[in-house]
Amino acid sequence: MDLSQLSTVLTEINSEFDQRIAEASTLSVIDQLKSDFVGKKGRVALLYRQLGQIEASLRPSAGELINAVRDRIEATIEDLYPAVRRAERSKTIASDVNDPTSVILRSYQGSGRIHPVTRTRMELEDIFVGMGFSVEEGPEAESEWYNFEALNIPKFHPARDGQDSFYLDLDGDDQVVLRTHTSPVQIRVMQSQTPPIYAVMPGRVYRRDTADARHTIGFHQIEGLVVDKGITFGHLASTIETFTKAYFGPDMNARLRPAYFPFTEPSAEFEVTCTICRGKGCRTCSGTGWIELGGCGMVHPNVLRAAGLDPEVFSGFAFGFGIDRLTQMRDEIADMRILTENDLRYMRSI
Ligand code: PHE
Repeated sequence: MDLSQLSTVLTEINSEFDQRIAEASTLSVIDQLKSDFVGKKGRVALLYRQLGQIEASLRPSAGELINAVRDRIEATIEDLYPAVRRAERSKTIASDVNDPTSVILRSYQGSGRIHPVTRTRMELEDIFVGMGFSVEEGPEAESEWYNFEALNIPKFHPARDGQDSFYLDLDGDDQVVLRTHTSPVQIRVMQSQTPPIYAVMPGRVYRRDTADARHTIGFHQIEGLVVDKGITFGHLASTIETFTKAYFGPDMNARLRPAYFPFTEPSAEFEVTCTICRGKGCRTCSGTGWIELGGCGMVHPNVLRAAGLDPEVFSGFAFGFGIDRLTQMRDEIADMRILTENDLRYMRSI
């Protein structure tokens, strides 16, 4: 072999290496290339072994030619390592990050269960779907317009007080508030559907209360809305009564008592037979035999108008009540705060 044959071989090795390295994207392929080209039994090592066939005076130059190719290949590979290693790591992270279940499944042998409040919500949805209602949702962060204005709650109303509402610190024309009730979803439903509307709207709401045995700052309500031609207070009363018997059982009753809400007129509070004493009177119901569950009433004409409906054509009723409160009654929970603490001893006990 002479020098020109050697450089032909080296040129071939170079170009073959370039071709293969261009396609290499994993560490294991690069390691393979390294051993194929500059490893102990690789292409370059083979050439060193053939140096003996070259005339002695040319051997130093031949050795330099081979060294140059070896150095280039090794340097190229070294340069490539960090980027490929980084790419592989982020691929692993991406595939790991969304799979915490693999860890949970291995370490947790018990079966999971649905949170009591979620269970109540699902039962309520079932009952209302059975009565012909659809289930709708709305955003938890609302503009003041949806949460207050459109619901006929004027600027000076105490419900707007910063004491009761959480305001979000956002740049924009509209003030944004964490919804204080599910009633704003009434407006959204009336805007996006044409009557007849028969809908329930469950969801989380927020109030700046101090948490105690019967209050948490984030809780759940379910709103009901019916809008159609010729809807009367009688329809409201019978819907509440039907729901009460379906949820609590046939021996339970509901009653309505006059109340005030800006978005309904007339308005009422609805009460159901005390679940603890079944109406006889006990400490929980302060001896009355009744427990207050929520509010209701005929949708105020201003509210229909705000949502773009003509109160001369349509009428409707709405109701709303707390899902957590209902869960508290059903499961006889002394302190509501347990529902947000996720204490497994409690969660497993119910
Ligand atoms: N939004 C009222 C509340 O949070 C409840 C309600 C809903 C009253 C619908 C009347 C009609 O207290």
